[in-house]
Amino acid sequence: MAILGIDIGGSGVKGAPVDTVRGELLADRFRVPTPQPADVTSVADAVAEVAGQFSGYDGVGVTFPGVVVDGVTRSAANVDKSWLDAPAARVFSERLGRPVSVLNDADAAGVAEVAFGAGHDERGLVMMLTFGTGIGSALFLDGTLLPNTEFGHLELDGHDAERRASDRAREQEDLSFQDWAPRVQRYLRHVEMLLSPRLFIVGGGVSKKADKWLPLIDIRTPIVPATLLNNAGIIGAAVTAEQAGGHPGAVRTEADRPGAENVAAGAHEG
Ligand code: BGC
Repeated sequence: MAILGIDIGGSGVKGAPVDTVRGELLADRFRVPTPQPADVTSVADAVAEVAGQFSGYDGVGVTFPGVVVDGVTRSAANVDKSWLDAPAARVFSERLGRPVSVLNDADAAGVAEVAFGAGHDERGLVMMLTFGTGIGSALFLDGTLLPNTEFGHLELDGHDAERRASDRAREQEDLSFQDWAPRVQRYLRHVEMLLSPRLFIVGGGVSKKADKWLPLIDIRTPIVPATLLNNAGIIGAAVTAEQAGGHPGAVRTEADRPGAENVAAGAHEG
């Protein structure tokens, strides 16, 4: 099925139709710069501009760099504060004239990596972490997403962890990979201690340079770079939109697992 995936990032809003069976883009991505300020109305315009480049798709999924519950954006750590409690799925749906599902950006990237990339066929607890403007997290149990985990905001040495160990922190403080890697290692050891995942997948722009810093990380848990890189958010948004089946904001959760039909019936309303 062809579903349009759109990824809202700090510098660009990018999208493409996705073959959700193969996890591949069906056309080149179209990108517009993220408006500044990135308030709800301006970003909705950018999303509409991206969507306007394509036709013939069967649904739309959009990522957002914050908590998203039932299509409503509940946090805005690195984005305009107009997103706090904004009915994002409704705003985008009205703007595009069709149902749009919305999910957290790291959750989307993780969905794509677990379905088609570095986490394919991995059982047990798998954790995707994206190192970019912030630190995004996505937690999976046997391939099923537990959404909105927000482990980038753990407290580390008295700081919000993403302020110390994100890629933005590395750039802002002009740190070499040798100087930044110990911070990432300290962060990963903390997460490892709390959750004992079976695998860490690291994504975000800096994962393209994984050969420069991953060898410097000494932790017990296996750790691998994401393989879908820039397209993970787009692909994950599309896959999730297909699963949501026209229910804005719905994502596959533990309640959707076989045998949990009664719970799932309530979880997809609205
Ligand atoms: C936000 C997360 C987001 C991450 C990456 C964090 O600041 O709280 O929701 O996934 O940045 O964009």
